[in-house]
Amino acid sequence: MPSTIGVFDSGFGGLTVLRALLHRLPKARFAFLGDTARLPYGSKSRRTIARYAAQSARFLVREQGAEFLVIACNTASALALDAIQDAVPSVPVLGVIEPGAAAAHAASKTRDVLVVATDATVQSHAYTTACLAQGLRAFEMACPLLVPLVEEGWTNHAVTAEVIRIYLDELLATARSGGFTPDTLVLGCTHYPLLRPMIEQIMASIAPAAMQVIDSAESTAEAAARRFDGGAMGAGTGADARAQVRCFATDSVDKFERLGSRFLGQPVGPVELVDLGG
Ligand code: DGL
Repeated sequence: MPSTIGVFDSGFGGLTVLRALLHRLPKARFAFLGDTARLPYGSKSRRTIARYAAQSARFLVREQGAEFLVIACNTASALALDAIQDAVPSVPVLGVIEPGAAAAHAASKTRDVLVVATDATVQSHAYTTACLAQGLRAFEMACPLLVPLVEEGWTNHAVTAEVIRIYLDELLATARSGGFTPDTLVLGCTHYPLLRPMIEQIMASIAPAAMQVIDSAESTAEAAARRFDGGAMGAGTGADARAQVRCFATDSVDKFERLGSRFLGQPVGPVELVDLGG
């Protein structure tokens, strides 16, 4: 049983995964690092993402004593899981892609799934590979405007609704013209769960049949909890993030504290500034 679980994201979107982890493992201790100075990862190259993610993983393991790592970032999971594992060889590393694909497998009857994610995640085809391993076909599309809209706090804004409608229209039309009959949509980016109500509502108004929406935050937390078998971390009542979590950011701690609570669903507590170098 690790004394500390390290959770890493390019920014604070990964707090949606931490929120699910706190729920499943209310007695665990967590160190969360958001590499906010270098966000977004989703528009960068594999080499750069791997370098940033490896530095972040080393910080959590060497300086915070993490004995298990959850990569709460789809882009880093898709492009840098091997580099992260090489950087911290003694520590088990769990990404969000495999649990997301496993949840899609459990949900889909048609065996065709849609995936929305960042540019880098889509170009890596990590979801296509993980879904194929589950016997699913995946149709992936990048939605690069959604991360900045969430970062701006526009999760209930008419502009965001319009952008989502345009993306989902195009996603459905292209997938269907390619012969896909999807019944499941995977939110393949840690920011998108904040838009879930809007995505579900718009999808229901345009899709010809019901579409299940998968949030890899939940399935990743489940996968982590299974590793620890409930055990000493699983028992207990309501989680209080301030008692259990130390949060670190590589840029403005004020912004992290302000916006982070939206992702975590409760105050994030004091955030510590960290310098990981270039
Ligand atoms: N955390 C990233 C992801 O889940 C989104 C933000 C970014 O592009 O860095 O893909």
